[in-house]
Amino acid sequence: MARKLAAGNWKMNGLAADLAEIDRLGAMLPDSGCDVLICPPATLVARMAERAGARILVGGQDCHAASSGAHTGDISAAMLRDAGASHVILGHSERRADHAETDAAVRSKALAAQAEGLVAIVCVGETEAQRDAGRAVEVIASQLEGALPDDPALLVIAYEPVWAIGTGRTPTEAEVAQVHSMMRATLARRFGAAADGVPLLYGGSVKPANAAQIFAIADVDGALVGGASLKADEFGAIVSALA
Ligand code: G3P
Repeated sequence: MARKLAAGNWKMNGLAADLAEIDRLGAMLPDSGCDVLICPPATLVARMAERAGARILVGGQDCHAASSGAHTGDISAAMLRDAGASHVILGHSERRADHAETDAAVRSKALAAQAEGLVAIVCVGETEAQRDAGRAVEVIASQLEGALPDDPALLVIAYEPVWAIGTGRTPTEAEVAQVHSMMRATLARRFGAAADGVPLLYGGSVKPANAAQIFAIADVDGALVGGASLKADEFGAIVSALA
């Protein structure tokens, strides 16, 4: 069985003053039941890691495939680890769109992350046009095939339908179940029995109001949460629904 994970993606949000949310979140968390992760912007990773305490893990939102060198503006997996991160989100649809990241690039980054001991959270998901064309499962399978790194022990997969991100819309339970079942089967072909230990997250408009329903779906081991992770009370309620 995979460990349950509630992960927050702050995206390009958060200043030093917002670290107070971490104190509030820490105070309301159950002692156990699931892992809790916040991925703030790179500027806050180190300060959040110092402040978060053992119950809250901290992650990055991207890393470069190279370990160091002439890459102005980029950040390496070693730098994230050095700053206190344990995880890194890779291949988020916003990075695929804004920075033309391909599956091959995501795989290179995931290999670099795992080489530093970071858990790679590989994001996949179809656009609305792809779902309307009946191609969702095929698109996601292809993204997985192209982006999967080599170590299942340092891997999380996040299924985020692009059309569900920040829109308040979510797929049906049957649609999520179909994708997650396909992802588990794809991982099993690649990694054998170790595939069962890879947490499969759903992401896209997860809120306190729909979290329990989403977590009840087969093969959903947690969530990658955007907007609702910015406020401790909302994210704490989502964690409670999972734990
Ligand atoms: O990575 C999480 C994200 O893309 C989902 O965002 O705001 O719909 O929860 P949101």
